[in-house]
Amino acid sequence: MSLAPQELENSASKYAAEAIRLDSQGSRGMAIQSYQRAIESLVKLVQVYPEYKLNKIYVERAGAYQSRIEALRMSHKLDEGSLTKPDEPTKENRTINSNQYAKGAGRTNAQAAEPSDGALDDLVMKEKPTVHWHEVIGQEDAKRAIRESIVYPTKRADLFPLGWPRGILLYGPPGCGKTLIAAAAAAEIDGYFINVDAASMMSKWLGEAEKNVSKLFVMARKLNDRENVPVLLFVDEIDSLLGTRNGEVGGEVRLKNQFLTEMDGINSKSKELLLYVIGATNKPWSLEAGFLRRFQKRIYVTLPDHSSRTNLFVQYTAALKKDLSLRPEDLAKLGEGYSASDIKDICQSAQLRVVNELFESGKAMEAKSNPRAINMTDFKEIFKIRKPSVPTDMIRAYMRWSDQFKAL
Ligand SMILES: Nc1ncnc2c1ncn2[C@@H]1O[C@H](COP(=O)(O)OP(=O)(O)O)[C@@H](O)[C@H]1O
Ligand SMILES: [Mg+2]
Repeated sequence: MSLAPQELENSASKYAAEAIRLDSQGSRGMAIQSYQRAIESLVKLVQVYPEYKLNKIYVERAGAYQSRIEALRMSHKLDEGSLTKPDEPTKENRTINSNQYAKGAGRTNAQAAEPSDGALDDLVMKEKPTVHWHEVIGQEDAKRAIRESIVYPTKRADLFPLGWPRGILLYGPPGCGKTLIAAAAAAEIDGYFINVDAASMMSKWLGEAEKNVSKLFVMARKLNDRENVPVLLFVDEIDSLLGTRNGEVGGEVRLKNQFLTEMDGINSKSKELLLYVIGATNKPWSLEAGFLRRFQKRIYVTLPDHSSRTNLFVQYTAALKKDLSLRPEDLAKLGEGYSASDIKDICQSAQLRVVNELFESGKAMEAKSNPRAINMTDFKEIFKIRKPSVPTDMIRAYMRWSDQFKAL
């Protein structure tokens, strides 16, 4: 059976996180394997679900992991080269490696040790995602907050003499629209969208990470300055970058501090600056207080309520042939506790059911044969064998965290 998109997404992030951990510990071979698995999941996701809204982001991400694999292979070759010269100090090797990390992006390493702005330019999405606000169902708080803080100041900065928030954190269970919301914001602004998935940021810049964080912000400011258009920096899975973890290596601490400094910079220095940082996380509790403070807006992207579930079922069954007795409201009742992306997967399973039936009946290849209409029984059967992807105790944890830290 093929995996649902959310599962592919989850396995990609799991492998990427694993790869970064191994990478930072210097386990090159195993890191490469994990990066490869992450790429495989992403590629499969894009191939199996070519219509998936976030594919552009995933293709980019896969590219970043591939670059890291190439950089690792390259540094392996350099190390082997140095093995034939036993009197070379090991420190040399490390220097070579970290320069290479800095350049990242799989380019040939003939350039100077300084990471060029070109390497950072790779992060700016030339082609923006094409998600529209109306495709993001529910999540009215999040949509409003983002539009108010990004769209209005862009149009009339003069109306905001006290400034406006530049840091927005979206948190909540997986599959409820955090990435989707950021993509919709990117599609709406007439400016730049910089997609810095924390995992590939670490992998690209390991060793030089903190220097590159500041370069990233310099680049973002320059873009804003030069063309006076908003720049949106989107850091997905920001917890993997800024979480509290035991046994941190020095580089990670420096990277975190640099990030905090940069956030202070954009929050205070220039009132006119149209630079925003949107962070997204499934694990808000792993973020430290100092970090939370820099994100003045902290928005809970929740599981869909009854009316959102109804709309989700309407949207995701729109292209399907349905029995007249099938009512989205009834489906929404069955779907309590399920995420938006669960609901999408469920609708897809319903279609698979009737298509499989057609194939099994032997009639699929007959001209103009069609599957039967999908009915309530189909959905009931699917709900029986498919539990919500977010367990209820986890939802309670989100609510507790939210009570304490949310800021609209
Ligand atoms: N609010 C929503 N409205 C419509 N579709 C949604 C919504 N939330 C999630 N989805 C569907 O699930 C997919 C994954 O959502 P995503 O934004 O990646 O969730 P998150 O970032 O919160 O884990 C989206 O591409 C979309 O197809
Ligand atoms: Mg996401």
